[in-house]
Amino acid sequence: MTGMIVMNMEETLMRHTSHDPVTGLPGLPLIRDRLANALQRSRRNGFSLVVLFVDLDGFHLVKDRDGHDIGDRLLKKVAERLAEQIRPGDTLARFANEEFVILCEQIEQPATLSVLADRINEALRQPLECGERQLVVTASVGLAIGNGNTHCVDDLLSHAETAMSAVKEDGGDGWRFFSPGQHDQDQQRLAIVNGLRTAIERNELSIRFQPIVVAESGRIVGAELLLRWNSSEGEIPPAVFIPIAEMTGVIVPIGAWVFRQACLAEADWRRRWGAEAPYVSVNVSPRQLIKESLVEEFAAILRETGADPARLLLEITETALMADVELNLRILRRLTDLGLRVAVDDFGTGYSSLAQLTRLPVAVLKIDRAFVDGLDKRPEHRAVIRAVIGLGRALGLKLVAEGVETDAQCLELRAHGCEFAQGYYFHRPLEEPAFVATLESGLRGGGLPDPALSLYFLIYVSQATPPMSGATLDALREQSRTLNRSTGLTGCLLYQDGLFMQMLEGQREVLSALMDRIKTDPRHRDVRIVIEGLARHRIFLDWGMVVRDLTPGPNEPDFTPWQHRRLSFRDLAEDARTCYVYLTAYAGCGMSEGISVLS
Ligand SMILES: Cc1cc2nc3c(=O)[nH]c(=O)nc-3n(C[C@H](O)[C@H](O)[C@H](O)COP(=O)(O)O)c2cc1C
Repeated sequence: MTGMIVMNMEETLMRHTSHDPVTGLPGLPLIRDRLANALQRSRRNGFSLVVLFVDLDGFHLVKDRDGHDIGDRLLKKVAERLAEQIRPGDTLARFANEEFVILCEQIEQPATLSVLADRINEALRQPLECGERQLVVTASVGLAIGNGNTHCVDDLLSHAETAMSAVKEDGGDGWRFFSPGQHDQDQQRLAIVNGLRTAIERNELSIRFQPIVVAESGRIVGAELLLRWNSSEGEIPPAVFIPIAEMTGVIVPIGAWVFRQACLAEADWRRRWGAEAPYVSVNVSPRQLIKESLVEEFAAILRETGADPARLLLEITETALMADVELNLRILRRLTDLGLRVAVDDFGTGYSSLAQLTRLPVAVLKIDRAFVDGLDKRPEHRAVIRAVIGLGRALGLKLVAEGVETDAQCLELRAHGCEFAQGYYFHRPLEEPAFVATLESGLRGGGLPDPALSLYFLIYVSQATPPMSGATLDALREQSRTLNRSTGLTGCLLYQDGLFMQMLEGQREVLSALMDRIKTDPRHRDVRIVIEGLARHRIFLDWGMVVRDLTPGPNEPDFTPWQHRRLSFRDLAEDARTCYVYLTAYAGCGMSEGISVLS
């Protein structure tokens, strides 16, 4: 009996020295031992082994915000999730802080490792219950493969860590294999961290303004302030230095500097242009959001610069907002109490709970550039864009599409009802003097919309060429729907009693080119324009076709005693306004499905 107690005590002691007390997992010395043994075995059996370095993204935010206790609970939950993903013989260890290491031996097919890495990312994306809170953390995973003949313990651990850092720099939530070139990247990263700390004092930071425009007219209504870093080594792209600044916390002083620049610009522009001055959009990092003093700091900058908070928009990424809604809600309310407005940046890339979104005091959704870019390449991106626009409109939010680069993207976004846009198609990021000149030349033009971008509409009627079978109508619908979507035309085509009536809306040149084709289409004749002209805004979000068969339907009233003359589309065409009212009544009647057959 006594012997057993002694043994248990010894075991507990062992566990405390070699195991991590928070998660109960092996600690650093033990994993090094196991890795050394595994390398020896691999020398004998010839199999490769892999080290996965798993680092939780944004864990420091959770710990800073919620304290060590919640942080520890989260680590425990993460350890459990990770343990569920690995094979019985694999080793899972806590390496340090929010870093875990997994060792898998006897790798026969390295390709299967990508499945494991995917599984780990996916498992961690699911919310974790930590006491009262539901927390979401993602992970950056680096993989290094090796064997006892070519690698030592330190090689594998440092390679896996380097690969993990590369994932982090790409925004985290992913995995990557180590490649030798990444060593140089590691060195570069170190230089960036050191350089960033002194970038403000050394006057190395500068700003650009990328105009935000009304998608239909191109009129500039705002500008996003973008940061540039001209380091002593040359220009470092924001995609490289921002994630590093975020990771190291240097983003906090830089963020305050950027907010001050935004305020100075707002105050200056309002002095120049009064009510016509564009608003200024500025990014706020999650690291800034958790600083208790942020609100006081912003309030002081607003006072000092005399900026109008209502004309400043704080852009916060969807991922940062959703990481902890309760805490963000508190801070955002205080920021909006100052009069500032909030936009959800990169919308569509995170894991928003819609219920949570409606609770946040948000005024604008910025649609992520990846979806805009995929509009003409990936059908699912088109579906996301439509859903986001529909959601934004339903919630009464303004929508800004980011990264608009082509005519077709712009037309399609407008067709779906996205009001504002930003991207190279309109303007590149500009230095302030160039921005001022661009805006002034727009104002000198009386602020009139660019005629090439003007929105036109048109209604015509025509006589169908018989026979018009269901198949002919189907073919016409499919052809027109595809073409109209790609050219940004919206509207509605009606077919009734052998006559067509169609309303089309879109860019003037596109519309007139289509009308040239429609007029000579043998499927109909006697095309007569009822009305055409400038439109204030679009009525339809898409293009659809309604076929109405006028043989009486079972639920219709009996019209036979009705003696008056039946009006055809030809008769309706006498009155443009009636045509307009009749056609636009179909807006929103399932146009996006392309057809509704009424009988
Ligand atoms: C009544 C009617 C309505 C039409 N509506 C459209 C339309 O909205 N969009 C469209 O691209 N084509 C429409 N078409 C088809 C065009 O006339 C033409 O066939 C099509 O644009 C392809 O032209 P293409 O073969 O010269 O490229 C319509 C044709 C008819 C008969």
